Order: sequence, then C-alpha cells, then structure tokens
Amino acid sequence: MGYIWVALSAALFAGFDIGAHLTFVIGYDFPLGKGYHSFIQTHGHLQLVGWAGLFIIGISLHFIPRLAGIPVSQPRWIHRILWLMGVGLLLRSVGHVVLPYITRSTLFVLFGGMVVGSGLIEWSGIFAYLFLLSKTLYGVKGIDQRPALTSVKPYFSMMLVGWLFYASLNLILLIQMVLSKGSMISPAWNEFSIQIFVGLVLLPVAFAFSIRTFPLYFRLAPIDWPVRRVAYAYLFAFCLQTAPAFPPLSDLIPQASFYLSQIGMLLKGGVILWFVWKLDILTRFREPWTGQRTLQPASDRRPTRPGMPDYGEFGRFERPVYAAYVWLVVGAFFEILLGIATLWGRPVSIGNDVIRHLYLLGFITHLIFGMSVRMIPGFIKKKRVACTQLVDFTFWLGTVATICRIFPLLLPSAIFGAVPASVWVAKTAFAFSGIIGWLAVLCLAGNLWKTASS
Ligand code: HEM
Repeated sequence: MGYIWVALSAALFAGFDIGAHLTFVIGYDFPLGKGYHSFIQTHGHLQLVGWAGLFIIGISLHFIPRLAGIPVSQPRWIHRILWLMGVGLLLRSVGHVVLPYITRSTLFVLFGGMVVGSGLIEWSGIFAYLFLLSKTLYGVKGIDQRPALTSVKPYFSMMLVGWLFYASLNLILLIQMVLSKGSMISPAWNEFSIQIFVGLVLLPVAFAFSIRTFPLYFRLAPIDWPVRRVAYAYLFAFCLQTAPAFPPLSDLIPQASFYLSQIGMLLKGGVILWFVWKLDILTRFREPWTGQRTLQPASDRRPTRPGMPDYGEFGRFERPVYAAYVWLVVGAFFEILLGIATLWGRPVSIGNDVIRHLYLLGFITHLIFGMSVRMIPGFIKKKRVACTQLVDFTFWLGTVATICRIFPLLLPSAIFGAVPASVWVAKTAFAFSGIIGWLAVLCLAGNLWKTASS
C-alpha cells in the first residue's frame, strides 16, 4: 500500500498541481515565466514515474508473484525501493523547478546536485525493482504449467526493458543538463524518453493487467486469442514509430525517419484497436467465460449485478474502466488518422500533446481510477470500498477533466471566428482542466484512505 499512498501524494502534492498551474497560465494567457519549460518537464516526469509508475510498481509486486506462483525473493527490498523512489521524486520535484531561477547563482551547484541525485536514486530504485521482478518472472520452474503467466510475459518483458531504458536515459539527460548549466532537458531527447515510457512501460503493462483481470472482474469471454502474437505486433509497430525518433538518427536522415515513424504510428494505432476488439471490453459481443463452466451457482444464490460478478460493493468501477478504453480507442484512432493524413500529404492539426494526454490522462489515469477501487480493497483484506458514490465522483471529474484538457485543442479556428464566446469557453475549460483532474484524484485518495482505515 505504501506505493499507492506515495503515488497519490506525488499526484496530489506535485504532478497534478503543476499541470493545473500550467493550464491556468496557458489558458488565461498569463506570462509563461522563466520556469515554464522546467515546470512542464517536472510535471511530465512526476506524472509518469510518480503517479502512473508507482501504481504499476506497487500492483505488479503484489500481482506478478501470485501469477507466477512464487513469492518475491527479497521482500525486504519492497520497502527500500519505495524509499528510493519517494526520495528521488521529492528531490526532482524541488530541484528541477528551482533551477531556472538560479542558473547564475552558486546555489545552482546545490540544486543541480539534487536533480542529478534524484536521477541516480530513482535509477537505483528502478534497477532493484527490475532485479526483484525478473527473478520472479524468469525464475518460475515448469513455466508450461503457468499459461496465465506465459501468455502475458512479452508484455511484462517490454515493461522491464522500458523501465531500464527510461531510468538510464533520465539519469544521463539530467547529468548533461546540469553540466551544461541548463534547466531544461534537451527537447528531442526528452520527447524520445517519454515515448519509451508510454509505449514500452505504460501501455504494455496496462494491456497485461487487462488481459489477466478483465474476464474475471467484468465477466468477459475467456482469453483464447493469440495474446503473445499481438504483443509482438505491438512491439514491432512501436519500434518502427520510436526508433526513427532516436535523435542522432532523426538528425541524420530527417525525412526518412519522419515517414517511417508515421508508418509505425499508423500500425501501432491499428494493433491497439485490434487489441481492444479482441478484449471485448467495449463491445461485449462474445459469451462470457461463465457460459462454459460446468458447475453453475446454486439457484438460491444472491444475484450479482447484471453482467458483472460483484454486488456493487466496489461502486460502479466499470465506468472509469470503460471510459479508459474509450479514450484509448480515440487515441489509437487519432494516431491512425494522423499517420494516414501525413503520408497522404495532407497533415491534420492534432498535436503530440493531445495524443499523449489521451493515453495518459484518458486511458492510464482512468484505468487507475477504476481498477484501484476494484483491486485494492482485496489487497488489504477489505470486502468493499468505503464510499461507492466517491467512485462515481472520481469518474465524472476525471471525464470532465479529460474533455476540458483535450477538446479545446481540437477545435478548428473557424469556430472561434464564427462564435467569439467560444474562445472564452475553450480557454476556461482548458484552464480548469488541471484543478478538476486534481479533484478526481482527491476523491480516489479519500475513498482508498477511508477504505484502508475502516
Ligand atoms: C488534468 C490533468 C493534467 C493537466 C492539466 C496536464 C497539463 C499539462 C500541460 C499544460 C503540459 C504541457 C503541454 C505542452 O507542452 O504544451 C503537459 C505535458 C505533459 N503531461 Fe500533462 N497534464 C495532466 C495530466 C497528465 C497525466 C495524468 C500525465 C501522465 C500520467 C501527464 C503527463 C504529461 C507529460 C509526459 C507531458 C510532457 C512533459 C514534457 O514535455 O517533458 N499529464 N501536461
């Protein structure tokens, strides 16, 4: 649970706050200030590693050993890793936002050291986590008897490689930034490292958890399709999209890199849509796995919610999960559209930032909203969440935050010309998106806290 509390604290006390500050400043045209770029990079790092990353570490350390059927080899390390990650994130959030204001002062050495230290401490924590998890993942004897683990292993392997790649790149880029007396990581490298984290860590792990838990939690069809092959197809498309964006390569052959990347993006969008289709979470066309079981529950058993295996004790947790998958589909669809339009020679104006937040705020954050209230009570031996209404609040606030964060950036400028009031509405929606997102996380945190202490 420590990971969950630190993830929520990182989101509530830093990640979402900086996001809210940024959208307010951008939305209402306030001066961006010296710290603008370092604020963006700090927000990005805290949200990726602090908010989404710590949730993943915490849940995977609980879930993967159970899937593998062997305990974590060094349980003492679980707390140590949390400490390393917590201290690393704290140093980064304080150090990086101060740097732009002290570039000419002697204090730069102190705060620069803090930022580099944060990279080193996080790297150590991530390395220890990967070591611990690989021993579990690759130490299973008689793997053939564990088909549940075998099928999702490629997804977890992508995650391990992604974490190591991201943590190492983060450390090197921070050292380079401080040595050059700057306060901003080189934009091309920064973009590349974010792509690695989102594409190799967050999406694969979200897919793996969905494959393993959804049939049970949502009473879906059994997973009888080639899950591993979809993972390889995804990896191929991801590499095609991201490898050409490797800065030395894109500097060398910019045109070819750009077009290869677009083809990769198009394919990746296609694989994601295929994955969602096969998972059947939004369509629910296939017969649930319960239709094939030989022993049916007794007729006098209390009925569960329609189509679901629970009695409503976790609230309507399916809503944020459905929303997550809707946002994922929109993100994948936009990637396909963008890829086709660019290759066709008619680029459309959908920014990187829109697609990124569709995946991160729309998909990953909503998946956390839904799955945490469904899974965490069980982890801490509780039978229900403390307040089912708060699950609804989290869902609605999260949805409004995502709409406000994304839609104003998609509106064609002709609308602003035709309806002048729409400028104000769009700016205000964008400005408040961060605060609304923050409130959604607050509802989740309050609910989990009450659940744990009840
Ligand atoms: C309502 C909540 C959020 C708000 C208001 C928000 C706001 C912002 C803003 C204004 C930017 C700068 C965009 C630009 O470059 O023009 C940004 C970038 C970014 N955000 Fe968010 N964001 C939110 C949620 C999230 C979440 C949940 C994640 C991850 C899980 C995330 C990850 C990122 C990343 C990786 C970047 C790019 C950072 C960089 O360029 O170094 N954001 N966000």
